[in-house]
Amino acid sequence: MKTPADFYKALAVGAPDPLRALPVNLERMIHFVPPHIDKVRAKVPELAARVDVILGNLEDAIPADAKQAAREGFLEMAGSCNFGTTGLWVRINALNSPWVLDDIDAVMTGAGGRLDVIMVPKVEGPWDIHFLDQLLAQYEARNGFEKPVLLHAILETAQGVKNVEAIAAASPRMHGMSLGPADLAASRGMKTTRVGGGHPGYGVLGDGAGTAAQRAFFQQDLWHYTIARMVDACASCGLKAFYGPFGDFSDPAACEAQFRNAFLQGCAGAWTLHPSQIDIAKQVFSPAVEEVLFAKKILEAMPDGTGAVMIEGKMQDDATWKQARVMVELARMVAERDPRLAGEYGLES
Ligand code: GLV
Ligand code: MG
Repeated sequence: MKTPADFYKALAVGAPDPLRALPVNLERMIHFVPPHIDKVRAKVPELAARVDVILGNLEDAIPADAKQAAREGFLEMAGSCNFGTTGLWVRINALNSPWVLDDIDAVMTGAGGRLDVIMVPKVEGPWDIHFLDQLLAQYEARNGFEKPVLLHAILETAQGVKNVEAIAAASPRMHGMSLGPADLAASRGMKTTRVGGGHPGYGVLGDGAGTAAQRAFFQQDLWHYTIARMVDACASCGLKAFYGPFGDFSDPAACEAQFRNAFLQGCAGAWTLHPSQIDIAKQVFSPAVEEVLFAKKILEAMPDGTGAVMIEGKMQDDATWKQARVMVELARMVAERDPRLAGEYGLES
């Protein structure tokens, strides 16, 4: 085991020091862009103004013969657009793939210090993070980066889920994790053919007499267990957890429900693969106005966060005060990006 003192030492001579806490950024949606498609790339400046994070995807969904074009497209995107406060991320190919070395070389050499986060697919254990940690430190030192590039792991293999706590604690370079339901379903041998979301067959039958058709059936969330494990692993290390893709673009209601389950369980955001999902994520991952107003009442009623008070018939104490702080801190970040919600929250600056 590394000693605590060594944990925060740069891993290469001349590399920036690891961060001791994550930068505080609003990341309600990570919007995926296929960078090899000129038509989509042309829309990046407009998209960057609408979303919290833009991600250039180099991995799955990019055909093998377009991998190089995707790398080049990503570098063009990174160099030609002013992202302002919008995060710039890239998803590289898996560490055992024939493409990953060229991906890392391209983005760490060509995207300069503009790159915020590298998303790493199919992370199996802390060893994957250690490998990248060392390699990125070498690139950062060689290219004079001022801040470290962070790592975001996709939780999408059975072994990754088994090792989720160790992955979260592997390095101060860790930003967070996303659930990858499509690859995870395959890795676990789940009998589905979907990219995220629920399944009509997974649920419980209500008590009572009669056939299944005559009784109530309650569909359950297939991802509840994994999201809960991911959120605990991430929160205990100061990282952020995200729901990943929702592939059925024709079902915005189910997408919203899946995103909301993740939000209520502690996730900070979700992936948006289609522009129609951006507003869904924005709505779900911005706290509801009535919840924020209620949270503000708790904070006002308990200025030092101790004791107990009743508000609208509900008991409040130190623990609800802490929940209220989570809600109001998120609302403040949302308010900085959204003047309409700032007004509704009563948090105009
Ligand atoms: C995402 O990469 C997934 O496999 O769901
Ligand atoms: Mg995947």
